[in-house]
Formats: sequence, C-alpha cells, structure tokens
Amino acid sequence: MCLPSRAEGRAPCYNLTMPILDARTFEFFSRSAEQTRRLGGRLGMLLNVGDLVCLSGDLGSGKTTLVQGMAQGWGSLDPVSSPTFILVNEYRRADGACLFHLDAYRLTNVEEAEELDFERMLECGVLVVEWPEHIQPALPAECLWVSLRYVEEEQRHLLFQSRGTRYDALLNEFRQKVVRV
Ligand SMILES: Nc1ncnc2c1ncn2[C@@H]1O[C@H](COP(=O)(O)OP(=O)(O)OP(=O)(O)O)[C@@H](O)[C@H]1O
Ligand SMILES: [Mg+2]
Repeated sequence: MCLPSRAEGRAPCYNLTMPILDARTFEFFSRSAEQTRRLGGRLGMLLNVGDLVCLSGDLGSGKTTLVQGMAQGWGSLDPVSSPTFILVNEYRRADGACLFHLDAYRLTNVEEAEELDFERMLECGVLVVEWPEHIQPALPAECLWVSLRYVEEEQRHLLFQSRGTRYDALLNEFRQKVVRV
C-alpha cells in the first residue's frame, strides 16, 4: 500500500533498483520508524557546526522521522516536530549551537531561499533540509545527500552520499557507527 501524504497527493510506489555503491555511498534498509530514528541518532552525534544534510524523498518517505533521531543524537533540548507550516525550526543544544531544520516543500524560488541566510545558519549550527531539490542553487554544493524511498508500510530504503571531503569523512565515521542500529 502507498503511504497517505501529508497534503493532497499520495506518495507513489517505486520498484527497488540496485544502486551502484562506492566509498562515497552507504545504503540502509530500515524496517521501522524507530529504527530510522536510531539511525538518525547515530548520524546526529557525528555532526559538526557547519554541516549540511539534504534529505530527498517523497511525502512520507521518513525525512522528518530521520531528523527526529538526528536532533536527539545531536543533543537537542527541544523535540522535533514536522515543520510543514513552519519553514525553519531551530533545535537548541546546551552549548548554544543550533540544528536548523528547513522544509523547502513550499519554497518555489531560489530568492525566497536566499533570504533565509544559510551562511549564518551554518556559522552557528547544522542545517538539515527536506525537499532540497526545490532550492538547490541556493545551497552549498558540498553536503551529505540522503535519498529516502518508501518500500513497504514499515520499510524504507535510505541512500547516503557524500559530496565533498568533509562529508567523505563523515560518511566513513557514520558507516562504522552503524554496525547495528
Ligand atoms: N522504516 C520507517 N522509517 C521512517 N518512517 C516510517 C518507517 N515505517 C513507517 N514509517 C512512518 O512513515 C511516516 C514518515 O513520515 P515523515 O513525516 O517522517 O515523512 P517525510 O518524508 O518527512 O514526509 P514529508 O515530505 O511530508 O515531510 C511516519 O508516519 C512514520 O511513522
Ligand atoms: Mg517531513
């Protein structure tokens, strides 16, 4: 069964294709939302101020669920909500750093995105973007790119791809941490 969407549409079902894996790629099959959160937690604890994580995937593919874990692993003092009607949510950490959670679903042009001042966000925190395709020219080219895909009701396919040397190192650390989530 396809997932009901948060908005008017329904997420399409996909056939799984085998990705071409290399040193800059890591794939994971999640069997539950909780497992996706735990996976996000492993990633969140590795993130540094200045890191950009882009989450690409259809409605209901698990982007916000992954962010919930990331924020927890990162050490957020605030719970994560879905930012459907809020463009950017900020999750604070005790040391004053922030995890900025942007949902670009409703952004239609790059100018709107540029007004958000990503440079400032990356100076004082981590930036996580849902629907990054909507604003890609406004984002730095280097990032950890995550593609999420609905497989079945409780299953999701996650493909992590590093873009840039910082993210090669991050992906390596992450791979080592995810022995068993
Ligand atoms: N293995 C899984 N991983 C992640 N979420 C799962 C999984 N199995 C079931 N789910 C459910 O799928 C839904 C994913 O919703 P979520 O809000 O994370 O998606 P999203 O990609 O952020 O969607 P949107 O584009 O609307 O923001 C949740 O209800 C979650 O409980
Ligand atoms: Mg979401």
